[in-house]
Amino acid sequence: MELDQAETAALLAALELQIAWGADEALEEAPQDRTRARAPAAAVPAALPAAAPAARAAPSRPTPVLAPAAAFAPASRRAGELAAGADSLETLRAALAALEHPLRETAGNLVLADGVADSGLVLVGEAPGADEDRQGKPFVGVSGRLLDRMLASIGVERARNAYLTNILPWRPPGNRTPTDAEMNVFTPFVLRHLALVRPRHIVLLGGTAAKALLRRNEGITRLRGKWHSLEVPGLGPVPTLATLHPAYLLRQPAAKREAWTDLRLLRRALDGAPIP
Ligand code: URA
Repeated sequence: MELDQAETAALLAALELQIAWGADEALEEAPQDRTRARAPAAAVPAALPAAAPAARAAPSRPTPVLAPAAAFAPASRRAGELAAGADSLETLRAALAALEHPLRETAGNLVLADGVADSGLVLVGEAPGADEDRQGKPFVGVSGRLLDRMLASIGVERARNAYLTNILPWRPPGNRTPTDAEMNVFTPFVLRHLALVRPRHIVLLGGTAAKALLRRNEGITRLRGKWHSLEVPGLGPVPTLATLHPAYLLRQPAAKREAWTDLRLLRRALDGAPIP
């Protein structure tokens, strides 16, 4: 099989990620009786080069379920009005900049998005950190670098086929977790943002994004690993995958295994596999 440059790069990135994540043995989860005749292994789809042997051996997951779409009522009328009035990414940015909010006073730069707006794939994080605040771009710090490597392992790149944003456009002081009130103020803007860029798939990175958009009380470890349906006003239901935040993976490297399972789920959906 001939691989082109992009496929080779994707394979190498996947391999590097596997090694970085400690998958340096091509062992499967369950022992295999190789003395018994087996049906030929199913071909791995060409667009899934990232499935290195160790990763392919991950146990099958329960069938994904669709969560009921939740209606969202803006917490702040002013925020709701400003968000609803935005009819382009420029006016959305101007609306966010115009909204008086304590976070605006302590942050340096507004952080709206990075990547290809019409790529069809939007990843939503929590809030800018110090590096993002300085550069005015999401996910440019250490967790952003991990995110880039994770995405590269399934052939996704922010410069080519992904778009990144956050629930909060301003850095919370000291990188603290956003409060529910902050999430509620900015969620109408995120929903408007999604309606403007019209993703076919959404990935929620971490508990804050999952809580703000799915309006569910369960923690990220229960919400991750399956597709939900997010009702985006003006756009309709969008298949939405919740997964672990890269900053969490930096603190809990053992959880990278679950993140890898989620990435494979995403890759399959991007390749057109039906979302149950
Ligand atoms: N963490 C996030 O959730 N978003 C960023 O932009 C950076 C770190």
